[in-house]
Amino acid sequence: MSSNRRTLVILGASGDLTARLLLPGLGQLLSTQGDLEVELIGVGNIPMTDAQWRKRITASFKAGGASSAATRALIAGTRYLEADATKADDLAKIFAACSGTPALYFALPPAVTELVCATLSKMQRPSGLVLALEKPFGTNLPSARALNRLLATFIPEERVHRVDHFLGKSTVLNILGLRFANRLFEHSWNSSNIERVEISYDETLGLEGRAGYYDHAGALVDMIQSHLLQVLAVIAMEPPSTLDSADLRGAMAQVLRATRVWQGKAATGSRRGRYTAGSVAGRKLGAYAKEPGVDTSRATETLAEIVLSIDNWRWAGVPFVLRSGKALDDDRKDIVITFKPVPHLPTGMTGTSVPTQLRIALDPHMMHLDLNINGEGDPFALDNVTLSATFADSVMGAYGEVLEGILRGDPTLSVRGDVAEECWRIVTPILAAWRKDAVPLDGYPAGSAGPRSWKQLPTKD
Ligand code: BG6
Repeated sequence: MSSNRRTLVILGASGDLTARLLLPGLGQLLSTQGDLEVELIGVGNIPMTDAQWRKRITASFKAGGASSAATRALIAGTRYLEADATKADDLAKIFAACSGTPALYFALPPAVTELVCATLSKMQRPSGLVLALEKPFGTNLPSARALNRLLATFIPEERVHRVDHFLGKSTVLNILGLRFANRLFEHSWNSSNIERVEISYDETLGLEGRAGYYDHAGALVDMIQSHLLQVLAVIAMEPPSTLDSADLRGAMAQVLRATRVWQGKAATGSRRGRYTAGSVAGRKLGAYAKEPGVDTSRATETLAEIVLSIDNWRWAGVPFVLRSGKALDDDRKDIVITFKPVPHLPTGMTGTSVPTQLRIALDPHMMHLDLNINGEGDPFALDNVTLSATFADSVMGAYGEVLEGILRGDPTLSVRGDVAEECWRIVTPILAAWRKDAVPLDGYPAGSAGPRSWKQLPTKD
């Protein structure tokens, strides 16, 4: 076994995540990072020939715009194994097929992931083994804790990568530069100057045939419990002294530990909706409740909005509103930081002073700063202007970035075990309130902005 060589073993290789996200990310990674020596083994529970597997990879690499000597070499040497990874014998066969140090990527549902980890804990494992676990990590706080405890019995934390592809998104990484390389922002990045922070990820996409997974997760767990809380952590954390994984992830963990539902009231600090039939950008979409595989007794939400507080010196009193939903009228994916009004506007100044807003768009990668300046004509009248800039795209997509960390053994862009638990701890009271029906499940037509009755969530006493 060559010591630099890694074997990426994808468990769940025949699934949608592998074809749509993992393989295109891998192709981009190989085409840009020539020094990586990677072998790929696909594992699934359906029969597939090596030739069929290669065809799938070729199509995914093409979709990711990746074609290079490295991608061709990987395709030539790859294999597909039909196996049940919850069984020790099958796992042993998979390890025996690896020519490099294995990185097991779990593109599997959380319940199956837990079973595979239990099997791994009881068997002989190759040295240097790396695990990459897709979200959601566990299905609630107790299961995430139990899974962390189990992992700790057989593998060091630095070799466990809890994947959150938002940490690989270039805009999220760009926030670090914006915040910490400009004296201007960090100075006013606190409750004295900031009125509220909104992190939104509204999608026009509907269920897209993912009921098997999504109907058990819903918008809160699918997007907020994982991705948007990571974004919140990057926005709100204290400046780390280095970008090493210990400093960066430590700063993220610290701020998440201080985060809770606004005023501790899950029923007033959250709301949920589910789309009914409608049309999105001219495309007809049926009601979520009628989609094949949806069980209406689960009352799964397709839109969730929650308000959080961060109980520390910097942020006390500032609401952080997190929202994400499907089948909405617009792909609004941004972070909006609204500053407080100035304490005094000179008497005699006319026009409208809008609150200064910094808007960081997650897709496309841009930032906008809304300011008041003296306008044309009457120099004492205010005009509102927007300064905009485009963030450079990273050479790889988010999955390429995340896979690089896994294959190079750098956990910086992975979710640390305690952080995964904090994220569950934050949403647990909301999930409990929803289970008790303390918050209505409001309907909204697909293609609308959300339930008509929704006003701003209350953030004042
Ligand atoms: C995934 C969610 O993790 O993130 C999806 O499961 C969601 O429901 C997706 O659509 C959004 O991320 P991106 O990068 O595809 O916009």
